[in-house]
Amino acid sequence: MTMLWKKYILWFAQEHVDFRVAEFESIVKLFGLQFRNLSEHRLKPFWLVEFPNDETAHQYASRSIALRSIIELYSHARTFPEFHKQLQNHVHLHQEALKEFFKANSFKITVETYNKHFSQREKVEKIETMDYLPIEGAVNLKNPQVEWWYLEFWGLDPTAVPAEPEDILFGRMLVHGQRHLIKQLSLKQRKFIGNTSMDAQLSLLMANQALVRDGDLVFDPFVGTGSLLVSAAKFGGYVLGADIDFMMVHARCRPSRITQKVRDKDESIRANLQQYGCANRYMDVLVADFSNPLWHRRITFDSIITDPPYGIREATEKVETKVNPKDNTRTADMAHYPSTSHYALHHLYADLLEFGATHLKLGGRLVCWLPFHREDYNETIIPQHTHLRLVANSEQPLAGNTARRLLTYEKHMEYIKEEKLNENSNDTQLTTAASQNFRERYFNTNGEIESRQERRMRKAALREQGRLEMEMRGKLPSDGRAKKCDLNKARFN
Ligand SMILES: C[S@@+](CC[C@H](N)C(=O)[O-])C[C@H]1O[C@@H](n2cnc3c(N)ncnc32)[C@H](O)[C@@H]1O
Repeated sequence: MTMLWKKYILWFAQEHVDFRVAEFESIVKLFGLQFRNLSEHRLKPFWLVEFPNDETAHQYASRSIALRSIIELYSHARTFPEFHKQLQNHVHLHQEALKEFFKANSFKITVETYNKHFSQREKVEKIETMDYLPIEGAVNLKNPQVEWWYLEFWGLDPTAVPAEPEDILFGRMLVHGQRHLIKQLSLKQRKFIGNTSMDAQLSLLMANQALVRDGDLVFDPFVGTGSLLVSAAKFGGYVLGADIDFMMVHARCRPSRITQKVRDKDESIRANLQQYGCANRYMDVLVADFSNPLWHRRITFDSIITDPPYGIREATEKVETKVNPKDNTRTADMAHYPSTSHYALHHLYADLLEFGATHLKLGGRLVCWLPFHREDYNETIIPQHTHLRLVANSEQPLAGNTARRLLTYEKHMEYIKEEKLNENSNDTQLTTAASQNFRERYFNTNGEIESRQERRMRKAALREQGRLEMEMRGKLPSDGRAKKCDLNKARFN
């Protein structure tokens, strides 16, 4: 049976543009969708594609965060005469199928021009050029039964607007993407957040990259405040997390909201999931150091979604081992307590890929961020593992000359550890010179950002100066931080 493919405009938000193709390919894979590309330019907000039917378009839109809307395409041209000719032809050819829309009781036509401003009068004039359309219903701007869209694309560069539009398009609004979730899951209203909470949009994009399906088991080994668990749970995943920071896992760390002095008693990752109606997707979060493997070999996850520490706003630490204890925290007569040491980024990524290869199901995905200094970037800095295939790599610029890449790996081969000669080695190949010294490069390249150590020293000097001044005036300074800490402890107990 021949399929009657239809043409559609995929209208994207012009934000996180580098993530668009990867998200599209992931959703296509998630639902096994068929499509044909009609336009090659991936940076434009309007892509033209063919889907076999409206249902395919609806399925894609049901997951996409990058997508604003899908419009069923009636006409696309580069010149006005060609545009009108095509539109008239389309209406004539498909008059039976389009009858129900043209005969609807109410309608609205919206004019959207990209990269060039037009007054309301000019927009109305553009609508009037299409007066041959056999529309019968009444205009209803608030709640129309049918929405028609007329779009003009005037290039991407606001400093070089072309003399004529690059694309003129017209069609019927079919369905919207999932961008409302960005507002719904916004960190602004979230119960429990911290300094490094991932914003809703990127968290949702990550869950799409991980192909999270209803009923999947999803793990974040650097869970922090659980933002990545929220998006995975929103798409139906059962979520599990771990973090080395006891205070973070128990939501007792210092509040990050400027208006908040102490944490509320009921803040937690579980409360975040409850807030979004996903409480039944919460499995647990635990305090664990990722560098010390904790999971049984037979445990498999459908996906691992994570944002490892870069050492900028949070420490990259691991628990010290008995083999090589730090001199300054352990003496023979001292009871043992765990101390931490620096967890170098190249070791962390090696562990992460090894963990993915071991604990992902076949076909499961590891989605993680890799920070780097832009001057250092080339494909060789991307960590590799023989059992994981890199399927997507999108960049987000960060402060100064730094950026991070969202890497998506797919497990393509079963990983049998016993095959290996050396149990302690792993199959990760790393030439991560860039990630190795990311923290140092981040702080020192422009000389403006002080290092954590420098900031501590400066603050300590200021405190000491304040203390001496108060002493001279015969007053005893109060320790505000200790007070806050006691208060948090009291709430926790
Ligand atoms: C970038 S933050 C993750 C933020 C998280 N995605 C969120 O939305 O809040 C990295 C987290 O890794 C944790 N971490 C650092 N070293 C760790 C280790 N060795 N094992 C497990 N977690 C670690 C930090 O405590 C921090 O919470």
